[in-house]
Amino acid sequence: MEFFEAIRARRSIRKYTPEAVPSDVMDKALDAALLAPNSSNMQTWRIYWVHEASTKRDIAVACMNQGAARTAQELVVFIADPMTWKVAQEANLKHLGPAAPNAVKSYYTKLMPLLYSWRILAPVKWLIFNITGLFRPVVRKPWSSRDIEEVAIKSTALAAENFMLAISAQGFDTCPMEGFDERRVKKILGLGCRARVVMIISVGRRDPEGLWGERFRLPKDVVLKKI
Ligand SMILES: Cc1cc2nc3c(=O)[nH]c(=O)nc-3n(C[C@H](O)[C@H](O)[C@H](O)COP(=O)(O)O)c2cc1C
Repeated sequence: MEFFEAIRARRSIRKYTPEAVPSDVMDKALDAALLAPNSSNMQTWRIYWVHEASTKRDIAVACMNQGAARTAQELVVFIADPMTWKVAQEANLKHLGPAAPNAVKSYYTKLMPLLYSWRILAPVKWLIFNITGLFRPVVRKPWSSRDIEEVAIKSTALAAENFMLAISAQGFDTCPMEGFDERRVKKILGLGCRARVVMIISVGRRDPEGLWGERFRLPKDVVLKKI
């Protein structure tokens, strides 16, 4: 499907037909998800393709049993987990190799640990950013645990969008969901306390009843400013 057509065709679908989604369709979309841009290439996303029938049922219940989850052929959970930072730190350094410029190496060996760990230093980081900011432009975040979660959530949301568009491009449908009991979802998936469930995306073939009306967006001049 043509790129803009895949964007246009994607709608949030709340009821699916019983048609199965071929696994190569899913694989292709999951690969596309992992190509999303992400903060410092730290890839602090984790994606759970929930395939097992009873787990799928449990996740659907944790999604308040909403139609989009209950009738889904497939469910994919997009997790942001800042605690996974070390995996990508080491992998990036290995990928860059010993010949990488020192500035790039210290980005991963010094700056990343400072941002992702040393939580006890959060107030110190805040002070440094804000005092420096009095004299020159400075990136003022992340300094707190919440900020680093936010960093991971942004990248994970981009992966989720890549996934939905790749499903759309292959003629199937999705619904992104944030209407779920995060604590229960984390328990079902056995996730750590710092992990955040960003979105659960259901996949299937749209039932005509699953499309709730015409697409509506605010007028362009309300949300788009050319300055
Ligand atoms: C972060 C996020 C969370 C959403 N959560 C839900 C949800 O829990 N249940 C649902 O039916 N739709 C959910 N939606 C779908 C939106 O309602 C939908 O995207 C919006 O109404 C625009 O419609 P469209 O996607 O068909 O263009 C969610 C969308 C996003 C981006």
